[in-house]
Amino acid sequence: MFEQPVVKFIRRWRIACIGLVAAVFVILAISLSLRFAPLPQRLFPISQQPRLRSCLASPPSPSYIPTNHSRFDWRNVTVKHPVSSLVSLPTAWATPLARIQHVFEQPSQEIEATRKDRQRAVKETFERAWKSYKDNAWLQDELRPISGGSKNEFGGWGATLVDSLDTLWMMNMTENFEFAVSAAFNISFAPETSIEELSMFETVIRFLGGFISAYDLTDCKDSRLLQKAVEVGDLVYAAFDTPNRMPVTRWKPRLAAEGQEQSALSSGLLAEIGSFSMEFTRLSQITGDMRYFDAIVRITEAMDAQQNLTKLPGMWPTEIDIATPDFTKGSKFSLGAEADSTYEYLPKTYQLLQGVEPYGSQYRKMYEYAMDTAIRHTLFRPMVPGQPDILFPSKVHAQDVSSAQRENSLEHLVCFVGGMLLLGGRLFTNDTHIEVGRKVGEGCAWAYKNSPIGIMAEESSLSACPSLDPCEFKGSGSGFTGFSHPVFYLRPEAIESIFYLYRVTGNSSYQDVAWEMFQAIDKNTKTEFGNAALQDMTRQNPPKDDSMQSFWLAETLKYLYLIFSEPELGSLDDFVYNTEAHPFRIPK
Ligand SMILES: *[C@@H]1O[C@H](CO)[C@@H](O)[C@H](O)[C@H]1NC(C)=O
Ligand SMILES: *[C@@H]1O[C@H](CO)[C@@H](O)[C@H](O)[C@H]1NC(C)=O
Ligand SMILES: *[C@@H]1O[C@H](CO)[C@@H](O)[C@H](O)[C@H]1NC(C)=O
Ligand SMILES: *[C@@H]1O[C@H](CO)[C@@H](O)[C@H](O)[C@H]1NC(C)=O
Ligand SMILES: *[C@@H]1O[C@H](CO)[C@@H](O)[C@H](O)[C@H]1NC(C)=O
Ligand SMILES: *[C@@H]1O[C@H](CO)[C@@H](O)[C@H](O)[C@H]1NC(C)=O
Ligand SMILES: *[C@@H]1O[C@H](CO)[C@@H](O)[C@H](O)[C@H]1NC(C)=O
Repeated sequence: MFEQPVVKFIRRWRIACIGLVAAVFVILAISLSLRFAPLPQRLFPISQQPRLRSCLASPPSPSYIPTNHSRFDWRNVTVKHPVSSLVSLPTAWATPLARIQHVFEQPSQEIEATRKDRQRAVKETFERAWKSYKDNAWLQDELRPISGGSKNEFGGWGATLVDSLDTLWMMNMTENFEFAVSAAFNISFAPETSIEELSMFETVIRFLGGFISAYDLTDCKDSRLLQKAVEVGDLVYAAFDTPNRMPVTRWKPRLAAEGQEQSALSSGLLAEIGSFSMEFTRLSQITGDMRYFDAIVRITEAMDAQQNLTKLPGMWPTEIDIATPDFTKGSKFSLGAEADSTYEYLPKTYQLLQGVEPYGSQYRKMYEYAMDTAIRHTLFRPMVPGQPDILFPSKVHAQDVSSAQRENSLEHLVCFVGGMLLLGGRLFTNDTHIEVGRKVGEGCAWAYKNSPIGIMAEESSLSACPSLDPCEFKGSGSGFTGFSHPVFYLRPEAIESIFYLYRVTGNSSYQDVAWEMFQAIDKNTKTEFGNAALQDMTRQNPPKDDSMQSFWLAETLKYLYLIFSEPELGSLDDFVYNTEAHPFRIPK
């Protein structure tokens, strides 16, 4: 039986000494392979920046152990189903990955001036909502932008605070960042402080992703952020303590802390099982603690083994049995809701791993197989005026390949696919992916432009052309046949794909597209306290909901800001973004 890593109480100077000797040795031995990324700005005097904490190309050894045990320590909860041996991150050096971003030239002064004006406008919208959150909903999960109240749905641990840390850094709001980090350091993730049931997916992408990314942006210098990342990582890891080591995706932390036996859900969602890989891979990279990486390898292996056994081989159904685990039974397939980030994380985990074997080729194979199926079965060309060269991925129902039926519906959530295909197309040099990615990204921009107030619906429907080739539009109106879910939650996915389109192609017309989208959104969603979700985007002066999800500050405004930034900020060759727009540093 494998013994869980024992929490050792070694005095700090010993860790420092061992670490320093190790670091000197490593630097001497492989000095060429190490790269200390440039520090965008300094919050801490050099003397307070321990060498060991700056981002290393390979995981620290010995592994990082949190030193502060004054809070609840999830490592203390007795493990019922220990793993017999841990898989480790590969240590071989990778060959450099293909370049993702366009090589930008120095723009004219006029273009620069416009860019900076737009960037300032986005930042002002962020500052306004952030200040309002600070004044009215501080340490709560979300601000209520109409009443000025707050609400807690993600643990009650300050989701907006943690989700916003890296945006504060990227927007150069240095004092706010420092203030926010010291408050976030204070958050207790003890079971008694939590709401009853947690979505582990949301906990991972918002809290764990938020802390990892902020830590990475400080060039791994602010160890408070590492400590918080590990605290959340250990909480999430406790949800993996099941007979088959598959996580409990809707998890009751108080029952788990009391030692109750847990098992994974027999009825779960694809996105909830496939979206741990980036966060847990990066957490193992920055801590040297392989428990996290080991945990997601088990999931990836199960998905890999069953990818060719589903009703639409290559894709996994949106509804799955995690307890067995059996990913083959469901008949609904989608790149959108309930599935999305499972696909997104395949090329992104590859990138985070620098493609190192054996995991590199596994993630690549799974991504390419999935996209092959998705490109063949989910895409449709909408029958709309002017025959724009656009495509949309739709939900598909299938009992087998030959019976696959598309819905020809369009979800806002699926708009991330443009960005994913552009990234994958560059990583694996596949022009088909670049081309389809462009058509999907531009399709979502089309959907914004051709909706009544310039804002896309959560879900809408269109007529499809008989094939993926252009076809003539007969009829009147914009081409939408209905808005089945006309709400707008301040979502980022369309703007996210425009961000990839701009950074990958360097075509400045995408900045103009993003600027129009931003203006329509800001104008229609602005409230006294921030920006609010819309109940009905088909109406002028649309009625609003008293809701501002944390992803408005974490994702939508961040991607907009980055579209109007110098292309080096958050470069796609230095960082890979998780599904909550949190950039993780690619080790190299
Ligand atoms: C440990 O956490 C407490 C707050 O819970 C804080 O006061 C203390 O400074 C921390 N110690 C270290 C070494 O980080
Ligand atoms: C962890 O467990 C040890 C041993 O049972 C105990 O002394 C310590 O106080 C615990 N720490 C926390 C933070 O719960
Ligand atoms: C960031 O803000 C500081 C002052 O807070 C300023 O001196 C610096 O120029 C800013 N950097 C950028 C890149 O805007
Ligand atoms: C940390 O929490 C304590 C108790 O909840 C509070 O008194 C203190 O002001 C907090 N510190 C920060 C920096 O928020
Ligand atoms: C499905 O894929 C797995 C893993 O790649 C492979 O071992 C297996 O032989 C394949 N099964 C079929 C029926 O193609
Ligand atoms: C590119 O992707 C398409 C669609 O998935 C696939 O059919 C094609 O073989 C790929 N091309 C290369 C060079 O990998
Ligand atoms: C930039 O993108 C726009 C919109 O897709 C397109 O019409 C234009 O031809 C592109 N420009 C270049 C130089 O590729």
